[in-house]
Amino acid sequence: MRKRLPDWCDENHAKFGPLFRGNLGFGAVGVFVQGIESLEIIGNKDTSSIDLLERCHGTLGKNAMIVLDGPAHRKSRGAVSANFTPGGLDRAAVLKTTSAVFDEHIEAWSKLDSMDLKDLCSDAVFDAICRVIGVIPGELSQWRSRFRMLLLGSMGSPTNLPGSPGWFAVRARSWLDERLAAEIQRVRAEGDESCLLGAMAHGKDEDARAVDDAALLDNLRLLVLAGHETTASTLGWVFLHLADNPAMWERVVEEAHASLPEQLVTVSGLASYPFAEALFREAVRLYPPVTIETRTVIREVSFHGHRFAPGAVLACSIVNASLDASIHESPRAFLPDRWMGTEGRKRAPSKTEACQFGGGPHYCLGYHLAVAEGTQFIVSLARRFHAAGLHLAPAGPVPEPSYYPVITVPKSATVRIVR
Ligand code: HEM
Repeated sequence: MRKRLPDWCDENHAKFGPLFRGNLGFGAVGVFVQGIESLEIIGNKDTSSIDLLERCHGTLGKNAMIVLDGPAHRKSRGAVSANFTPGGLDRAAVLKTTSAVFDEHIEAWSKLDSMDLKDLCSDAVFDAICRVIGVIPGELSQWRSRFRMLLLGSMGSPTNLPGSPGWFAVRARSWLDERLAAEIQRVRAEGDESCLLGAMAHGKDEDARAVDDAALLDNLRLLVLAGHETTASTLGWVFLHLADNPAMWERVVEEAHASLPEQLVTVSGLASYPFAEALFREAVRLYPPVTIETRTVIREVSFHGHRFAPGAVLACSIVNASLDASIHESPRAFLPDRWMGTEGRKRAPSKTEACQFGGGPHYCLGYHLAVAEGTQFIVSLARRFHAAGLHLAPAGPVPEPSYYPVITVPKSATVRIVR
C-alpha cells in the first residue's frame, strides 16, 4: 500500500470486485470500497469518522471537529466555518497575510542554488497558517517537526511503546499542547479578538458559556495540522513539475505578469491566475495528501448489494477516485489543462473531481484557503524568480510518491535554481 496503493486497489478490484478486505496497518482490517460510487460513503450521514480517534493514536483529540458527528460537529465547525468561506477569507484580509509570509520565504529561497522542497514548503505554509490563525510559534522548524511526529499517529499504531509511531505522536502532542495552551492564554489575557484564535478563545456557546479549553485546544491543533503539510506537499509537487517542464514554467511566468499584483490578495482577484490554480489542482489530484478515507458505519448502509451493520469500517481510496479513467483522460499524467475552461478561464470542478478534499459534513474546512494559498504561492514565486532572472530546473526525474498513510513530497525532493 505504501509504494503501490492505486495499483494494489485496482488489482484487488479486478480480482474480487468493488469490495474486498484489506489490512489498514497494524492488523486493523477494513473493507475497501472501490469505484467513484464509493465517494457516496464519504459524503453520507450514515457513516462517521470516529474511527480516526482510535486509529490516529494520539494525533487527534476527542473534541476535534473531525471526529464529532451530528449536532456536536455542526457546533464545533460552525464556530469557525465563516472564517474559511471566500467572503470570510477576504473580510479578514487573510490573503494579505499569507502573501506577506510567502514573499518573505520566496525572497530567502531566491538566494539558494537548490531547494529542498519538503522542508522549505512546509516552513512557508506552516508559518502562513500560524499567522492566519494568530498563533505565534517559537522556532518554526521545531514546531513543524513536532507536527510531523504527531502525524505518525495516523499510521494506526495500536500502542505507544517507546520507539513506536504512537509514542512519537503522544510525545509530540504533549510538547505542542503545552505551547498551544500558552497561546490560548496569551490571546485571552490580551483580550485580542481580532485574530481567529482570539475570536475562538473569546467565543461563547448558545448558553453564553465560554468555549471549553479542551475543545479549543483540540480544534486549534487540528487546524494547524490539517492546514499546512497538505498544502505544502501539493506545492512541492507543483515545483517538481514546473522544474521538469520549461513550457509550463514559461506559461505560469507569463500569467503572473499579465495581472496586477493586487489581484493576488483576494479570493476573487485570484481568478486572474487560472493556470496557476490549474497547476495546484492537478498536483492535488495526482498526489492527494489524504489517500484513504475511512468511515465507521453508524446506521446500516448498502453498497453493491452488501449491507454493512453499525461498527463496520469502510475504506474509500481517494487516490483511486482521483485517478479514475472514467473521469480523467490519461489519469496518471500531470496535465493541468484539464482544469482550464473556455477562453483561458478557470472552470469549476465537480464534487467528484474535488474528492481529494473529502465529502459530506466533514468536507475540508480549508478548501478555499488551500486553493487560494496554492495559487498565490505559485504566482508569487514565478513573478519574483523571473524578475530576479531565475528559473527552476530539475535535479533528477520527478520522484514517485509513497502513498500510505498520507502522500507528502519525498524528503529527497529537490529542484535547482538556475541564474
Ligand atoms: C491541499 C490541501 C488540503 C487537502 C487535500 C485537504 C484534505 C482534507 C480532507 C480529505 C479532509 C477530510 C474530509 C472528510 O472527511 O470528508 C479534510 C478535513 C479538514 N481540513 Fe483539509 N485539506 C487541505 C487543506 C486544509 C487547510 C489549508 C486547512 C485549514 C485550516 C484544512 C482544514 C481542515 C479541517 C479543519 C478539516 C476537518 C473538517 C471537519 O471535520 O468538519 N485543510 N481536509
